[in-house]
Amino acid sequence: ATPVVVAIDGPSGTGKSSTSKAVAARMGMRYLDTGAQYRAITWWMLHAGVDIDDPRAVAAAAGKPSIVSGTDPLAPSITIDGTDVAAPIRGERVTGAVSAVSAVPEVRTLITDLQRSIAAEADGGIVVEGRDIGTTVLPDADVKIFLTASPEVRAARRSAEVSGRAGAPAAGGADVAATQAALLRRDAADSGRKTSPLAKAGDATEVDTSELTLEQVIECVVTLIEERG
Ligand code: C5P
Repeated sequence: ATPVVVAIDGPSGTGKSSTSKAVAARMGMRYLDTGAQYRAITWWMLHAGVDIDDPRAVAAAAGKPSIVSGTDPLAPSITIDGTDVAAPIRGERVTGAVSAVSAVPEVRTLITDLQRSIAAEADGGIVVEGRDIGTTVLPDADVKIFLTASPEVRAARRSAEVSGRAGAPAAGGADVAATQAALLRRDAADSGRKTSPLAKAGDATEVDTSELTLEQVIECVVTLIEERG
């Protein structure tokens, strides 16, 4: 059988990463976190002193670093020019800058090419999560899923994720409100950009995860993969 390609898109805080990793692990497939790639190039630009508010400067620097994504769903990894950036790309600085960098067409072209070659080499099939996988990166994916959730649920999940990290304080009400505002700003930027915005593909199945547990979302996606075609 030909390897199955699964595209999982949606805004932040919908459970894309947890769901995609678990589904890939369960089905013996590879896993690619495309958001981590945009975060890595953003980290590199900040580190290199590129003015990320200048799209021409970002475009000129885009081809310089080399990104390597490890696709084991049980131990995903990301390096840029040989530096392991798995931890720093989750920080506030990168999160606040990534939408500007990922909106630059030259950045998208380079990273899209990289994503396509990784998917083409995944013999056992692959789950690819992002914002434009079903629409642009892999329009011929065998299964396309678009995850959604209410803004309140998304903010609560993101706050729990951030405060669950080592050394982080527990999130209070004000923190959740601030997280929700930042998350909605990022989604608005990602949905409003000209090149390959966050969007549901016409042939994607939408799953509203607001009232579902992670296990229920995983079950739902596994069923959609098993029933494909
Ligand atoms: O999924 P994650 O929150 O890590 O994505 C970080 C950012 O990377 C998004 O807010 C978006 O700007 C960008 N991104 C993108 N296209 C993708 C995946 C992520 O533009 N396929």
